[in-house]
Amino acid sequence: MAKRIQKILQEKQGTGRVTVNGWVRTRRDTGSFSFLEINDGSCLANLQVIADGSLANYDEEITRLSAGCSVIVTGDLQESPAKGQDVELQAASVEVVGWADPETYPLQKKRHSLEFLRSISHLRPRTNALGAVTRVRSRLAFAVNCFFQERDFVQVHTPIITTSDCEGAGEMFQVAATGEKKDTPFFGSAAGLTVSGQLQAEVYAQAMGQVYTFGPTFRAENSNTSRHLAEFWMIEPEMAFCDLECNMELATELLKYVLQDVLLSCKEDLALFDTFIEKGLVQKLQGVVDKKFVHLTYSDAVEELQNADTNFEYPVEWGVDLQSEHERYLTEQVYKSPVIVTDYPASIKPFYMRVSDDGKTVAAMDILVPGIGEIVGGSQREERLDVLERRMEDAGVDKQEYDWYLDLRRYGTVPHAGFGLGFERLVQFATGMSNIREVIPFPRTPGFAPC
Ligand code: 4AD
Ligand code: MG
Repeated sequence: MAKRIQKILQEKQGTGRVTVNGWVRTRRDTGSFSFLEINDGSCLANLQVIADGSLANYDEEITRLSAGCSVIVTGDLQESPAKGQDVELQAASVEVVGWADPETYPLQKKRHSLEFLRSISHLRPRTNALGAVTRVRSRLAFAVNCFFQERDFVQVHTPIITTSDCEGAGEMFQVAATGEKKDTPFFGSAAGLTVSGQLQAEVYAQAMGQVYTFGPTFRAENSNTSRHLAEFWMIEPEMAFCDLECNMELATELLKYVLQDVLLSCKEDLALFDTFIEKGLVQKLQGVVDKKFVHLTYSDAVEELQNADTNFEYPVEWGVDLQSEHERYLTEQVYKSPVIVTDYPASIKPFYMRVSDDGKTVAAMDILVPGIGEIVGGSQREERLDVLERRMEDAGVDKQEYDWYLDLRRYGTVPHAGFGLGFERLVQFATGMSNIREVIPFPRTPGFAPC
C-alpha cells in the first residue's frame, strides 16, 4: 500500500521503506543522480526523491521524467541534509506509470494566472493553489457536518428535482424528459432544479426538531459576478421551536466553528493563500473567530448608508434591497467585521418569512462578511396559517400548489427558523479567492460549463 506524503512528512523519521504514488512536479539532474519533486495531492508540500544513476531505468526513463508524469516510487526515508525539509526518499525503484509530453503539457513550472487555469479545469487541481483550495473545501465540508452532528441535528437529503420555487424569484432551471410533451410532463406538473432545500427542510424540522440539508442548488440568474454560480452548494439548517435570535446564534457559532477548524487543520494551505492570494488572511479569519459579530437592523443600515460619504451606484432608501456595494461598505468600511442585518422590509422578502408586529418588516437576517458581502441568508418562518395565506396571496403564490406547506401550519405548527450558508462563499472567504469560480471544482456560469 502506498503511503500519503502528508503522513510521511508528519511522522518525519523512522518509517523505513515506503511506496509513494504521485505526479512529478520537477526533475533536476546533478551528475550521477536526479532529484524528483513528487506531489500526491495529500498536502501542499512535495516529497523529494533521490534517484540514483545506478537504478536500472535511470538513463532510459528517469532522466526523461518531466512535470505531470505519474510514478510509483519505493525507497527508504532518510533525514534530509537540505534546508526546508526533514526527510527525503532514497529511491530503490521508480516506476513510470504515465508520461506527460513536456511539449504539450500546459502546467509548466512558472506561475499561471487563475483565469488561465479556469480554461483547463481538468488539470488545475494539480497546481499548488487549486490543490490547496480543494483540501480546504473538503475540510470545511467535514467541519460543517461535525458541527451539526455534535449538536444532534439530523441530516436530511432534500430533493434536487422539485416542483416548488422556494425563493419565488423565477430563477429555476426546468427539468423535462427528452421529447416530453407540454401537456403530459414527466412529473405530472412542471418541475425544476431546486433553488433551496428550505421548504422540504421545514417539513423535516417539524418532525425531527432540528435538521440540516447540505446539497447542490441551482439558480438561473444571469449575473456574471465573482460571487454567483448557476450551480452552488448550500448548507441549510432548520430548527423547530426557534426564533430569529436563536437562528442568528446558530449561524454565528457555525461560522466561527468551521473557520476555527480550518485554522487548525489547514495551516499550510492557509499560509499559501496568505502569501499569494490575500495578505493577512489568517489574521482576518482569527478575527472572525474571536470577535463578536455586529448586529444592525435594516433600518439602521439604510440610515448608515444614506449618511455615507460614498457615491453608490444604486441609491439607498427604505424599502429597496441592499446591493453588494452597500453590503460591502457596511462590513468592510464601517464595521470591519461580520455584520448581521435584521428586520428587512416584508415587500422585498419571500412569502415564508415571519411578519413582525410592525406589519412592515419580517424576521429576516443576512450575515455580511468583508470581501464577499452576503454569506448567509435566513429568517424565522411564518408559522401562523392566516398570515401565511395572506402573504402568499399578496406574492401571487398558488396556495393549492403549496397545500402541503400550509398543512404544516394546520397540524402542530411551531415557531421555527433557519438559514442558508452559501458553501462556495464560505470557501471563498476562507481562502481569500476573489472569484467564486476558483473554489468549486467545475464552475457553472452563464455561457460556461466545460467537463
Ligand atoms: O439568501 P438566499 O437566497 O436564501 C435562501 O435560499 C433561503 N431559502 C435559505 C434558508 O433560509 N434556508 O441564499 C442563501 C445563501 C446566500 O446568502 C449566499 O451565500 C448563497 O446562498 N447564494 C449563492 N452562492 C453562489 N451563487 C449564487 N448564485 C448564490 N445565491 C445564493
Ligand atoms: Mg439572500
